[in-house]
Amino acid sequence: METVRAPATSANLGSGFDVFGVALDRPADIIRVKRADETTIEVTGVGSQYIPEDPHSNVVGAVAEALNAPAQIQIDKGVRPSSGLGSSAASAAAAAVALNGLYDRGLSRTELIPIAAEGEAIVSGEAHVDNVAPALLGGFTIARDNTVTTVNADIPLVACLPEIAVSTRDARRVVPDSITMEEAVHTVGSAATLTVGMCQNNPTLVGSGMDEHVVTPARAELVTGYDTVREAALTAGATGVTVSGAGPAILAVCHTQKRRAVAAAMIDAFETVGVEARAYQTCVSAGATLF
Ligand code: HSE
Repeated sequence: METVRAPATSANLGSGFDVFGVALDRPADIIRVKRADETTIEVTGVGSQYIPEDPHSNVVGAVAEALNAPAQIQIDKGVRPSSGLGSSAASAAAAAVALNGLYDRGLSRTELIPIAAEGEAIVSGEAHVDNVAPALLGGFTIARDNTVTTVNADIPLVACLPEIAVSTRDARRVVPDSITMEEAVHTVGSAATLTVGMCQNNPTLVGSGMDEHVVTPARAELVTGYDTVREAALTAGATGVTVSGAGPAILAVCHTQKRRAVAAAMIDAFETVGVEARAYQTCVSAGATLF
């Protein structure tokens, strides 16, 4: 029997579409696996009613198949599906680590990335490593082609999750096909600024480096109240705000002493547009952990 906790993650961080990701210290999924002749899956926890238990339709079933590791698998969801907080990646990463341990496969965390990403493709239609990489490795991750670079960072964050759902498939349809040279130059400048901020544990640089004018505005349209919540977070002291992954969660960066106020301001702002929300006061954290 193996038990693994894998964290929520936030991908893109504005300027790093399909490249940047961070592990969050909360929320998280917990997975328990036991050897069995064939894979069975039981799902409990947040949003479990929306998650198929058929191993052929579940990210975790795909991971078990890829590792040739049939098991009785219990998933306790802490990361809500369709949240923009890497829900399927958390389950896929947890399963990859747990089954790798259960069957002594001996694969490294880096070797587990493509296996967990294939599982995630079942849900999103495409394999993206920008959520599974931080869920497995922790920290701030940069996924470029087939290579992932990791930086351990200590940055306070607020992830505010409204009671609306946005599917990754829908959020990818609204992404523009092309960008201008001016936009590309701005995005590269932001991404570089953000990366330096992560290396220096500097929330001001990280927040400023999230600024991006192509993908984020298109996706913000899918999140009721985005502009109102963004303004409220900035007024409360956030150094930067963006859509978390495919949304609808909104991610704010701030200094530690402002985190509580930023979280409260974001919840209140969602309330003014008639949307219930909860906020996780969190930070960049470790990846999947074996108990
Ligand atoms: N980078 C992806 C997106 C993350 O934003 O669409 C979802 O897996």
